[in-house]
Amino acid sequence: MYRAVKPLLFALPPETAHNTIHTLLRAGQREPVLSLLDDQCCVRDDRLRVEAFDNEFPNPVGVAAGFDKNAQIPRALAALGFGHVEVGGVTAKRQPGNPRPRMFRLKEDEAIVNRMGFNNHGADVIGRRLHEEPLPDVPVGVNIGKSKDAPLEDAAADYRYTYERVAGAGDYFVVNVSSPNTPGLRDLQHRDNLAVIFEALQDAGASPLLVKFSPDLSRDAIADGVALAEELGLDGIIATNTTTERPDSLLSPNAAESGGLSGKPLEDTATDLVAFVAERTDLPVVGVGGVFTAEDAYEKIRAGASVVQLYTGLVYRGPTIARDINRGLLDLLERDGFDSVADAVGADI
Ligand code: FNR
Repeated sequence: MYRAVKPLLFALPPETAHNTIHTLLRAGQREPVLSLLDDQCCVRDDRLRVEAFDNEFPNPVGVAAGFDKNAQIPRALAALGFGHVEVGGVTAKRQPGNPRPRMFRLKEDEAIVNRMGFNNHGADVIGRRLHEEPLPDVPVGVNIGKSKDAPLEDAAADYRYTYERVAGAGDYFVVNVSSPNTPGLRDLQHRDNLAVIFEALQDAGASPLLVKFSPDLSRDAIADGVALAEELGLDGIIATNTTTERPDSLLSPNAAESGGLSGKPLEDTATDLVAFVAERTDLPVVGVGGVFTAEDAYEKIRAGASVVQLYTGLVYRGPTIARDINRGLLDLLERDGFDSVADAVGADI
């Protein structure tokens, strides 16, 4: 089915295609459509269940931040078979983001470059939406970013403002200090800056609290960030966000666009980083970057990820991706003699 629709979608500019899918999913977010999607896409099997950072995930395949920036379609995404949905990035202030075009397909590379710049409706609107509209029965995380015009020294207050608007509505909260499209944001990944932000959010009651790292950080800085997360009692680490690196292997002319690269070219780097983090901490790791297939998800799980997330895979493989990965995971678990996903977490480290 997606094979027929994909050429039409790919004939549209990427952001228009994304908005079209988003609008369709929003329109379909009602009965009986949700139940029909659920019947077709949700794979229910106890072996897929995972417990991590105080949440129960019905399966380990989630939607990464950025796909549902304004928290408008979490139930539709859950009905497509995803085991959790991370909404946002949400910023304290409503933002238009960068001028268009700001999202580019690298078709030959099965990748995307984006420089969206945290376009979102803002914490007041999204907080109200999360509190007032029905949520799915899978965990919903909230990814929190910094407002573009908040100076770096006020970042902690800016993150806290957003947290307070979404508190009580999310099942976990993510400090996103790793998007490459907000000037200076990634400087916040250094120890002293991180500590101030974590403490401000914990002081406001944020729990479970996770941090999402960039794949472009040095190993030392990541090890430092992980140690800090442990010291301050955070609940998990997300590895990774997009990269500003451009591997030599890229074929598409759109590789020259500035912004964060996601999808297949990020996959191995992200998996290596999952293993690097998992080797250094018992905190749960969320693996993200280039997950398109069951084998890809399984590799991240074996590298130490308790759950995985994806965005670019959904664009290239279509709306049955969660179902396909979950079905495939069951086969892989059986092949290798694991009783459950939880059993396979970290098997390679
Ligand atoms: C993203 N990503 C992202 N991450 C984040 O923490 N906050 C955000 O607002 C966004 N926004 C965003 C927009 C677009 C268009 C893309 C493609 C990506 C990053 C995303 O969550 C994920 O970390 C990377 O895309 C890597 O995963 P995939 O896409 O390779 O599965």
